[in-house]
Amino acid sequence: MYKVAVVGVTGAVGQEILRVLERRKFPVSELVPLASERSAGTEVEFAGKKHKVRKLEAGAFAGVQIAFFSAGATRSREFIPIARKAGAVVVDNSSAFRMDLQVPLVVPEVNGDLLDAKPGLIANPNCSAAILAVALAPLHRIAGLESVVVATYQSASGAGARAMEELDRQVRDYAGGKEPQAEVFPHVLAFNLFSHNSPVGSDGYNEEETKMVEETRKIFALPTLKMVPTCVRVPVPRAHSEAVVARFNRPVSAREARDILGKAPGVRVVDEPEKNLFPMPRHASGELDVLVGRIRSVEGDPNSLAFFVSGDQLLKGAAWNAVQIAEELARRGGLPV
Ligand SMILES: NC(=O)c1ccc[n+]([C@@H]2O[C@H](COP(=O)([O-])OP(=O)(O)OC[C@H]3O[C@@H](n4cnc5c(N)ncnc54)[C@H](OP(=O)(O)O)[C@@H]3O)[C@@H](O)[C@H]2O)c1
Repeated sequence: MYKVAVVGVTGAVGQEILRVLERRKFPVSELVPLASERSAGTEVEFAGKKHKVRKLEAGAFAGVQIAFFSAGATRSREFIPIARKAGAVVVDNSSAFRMDLQVPLVVPEVNGDLLDAKPGLIANPNCSAAILAVALAPLHRIAGLESVVVATYQSASGAGARAMEELDRQVRDYAGGKEPQAEVFPHVLAFNLFSHNSPVGSDGYNEEETKMVEETRKIFALPTLKMVPTCVRVPVPRAHSEAVVARFNRPVSAREARDILGKAPGVRVVDEPEKNLFPMPRHASGELDVLVGRIRSVEGDPNSLAFFVSGDQLLKGAAWNAVQIAEELARRGGLPV
């Protein structure tokens, strides 16, 4: 049994971490729920009991064996060294350490072998990158990945609990004949879509797109992988979708890809053209697996494949991937006893 800290426990990801720990029956002897001063003293539910949220501060990590961080990169930079010093193994959902050469960036289905070294700090990838990696990995294993062109359809909850509430409010306002207002996002999301709301760099790519490229390269250990992402926010509450065209080092037929993906861990093939049934965020929500479908060949290029992915970014893109890492570490004796 482990003493487990959840940093950012009141947030969209923090809440999902509690639900996944329950769902997976992770052996928790004591929960340390941490958030900002704003929510200190409020309560969260875990394992049928109410737990008082505590303010994130240095003393909170005494005796903690595993800490899940999802309270933004600034908090991770400040408090992860403190948690590590207190002896906790840390899984970080923020972007703070993802590109640090000393820190493994792990999607267990893809590069879970990095956990054999029993690292003390493990970074959880960007949600869109994690979902994409699960679908690409089985194909990369058989045919070698050469390039990826991907367009994302990213849900509101990818930007946190307040963004999810904003979409809900905008939809109700719209239906009630009121002009919807945007506060969390830069534009109204209800009945609209817009280029991802992260800062745009001098190369024209926004931060989300840059993260997808850099992190996919790191996860697959393919530093020169060619990649063209276009990240878009869509009025969906939960689960990200991605339209992918991937090129490999050898021909891969749609049939072979469907067969390989059908047997791959973490993937569920949803590909029923006769019913026009393919992956949808509605079906992906709440699922640990990533849904993959619309698997098609590319005319004139037998080495390329097109497909469509939907994955719950709060689960495989965050909470589930983090708990899965903890489970894998526990299995390898990589958690403090
Ligand atoms: N949403 C996703 O799909 C997703 C996916 C992958 C990774 N992530 C990453 O996970 C992290 C959390 O995202 P989220 O979507 O859960 O955001 P969120 O819903 O806005 O939650 C943020 C959490 O951080 C806490 N927090 C904020 N400032 C704090 C401070 N000064 N001290 C202590 N705690 C503080 C908040 O506590 P209060 O309630 O007290 O403010 C809340 O618990 C971010 O780093 C994000 O990039 C998110």
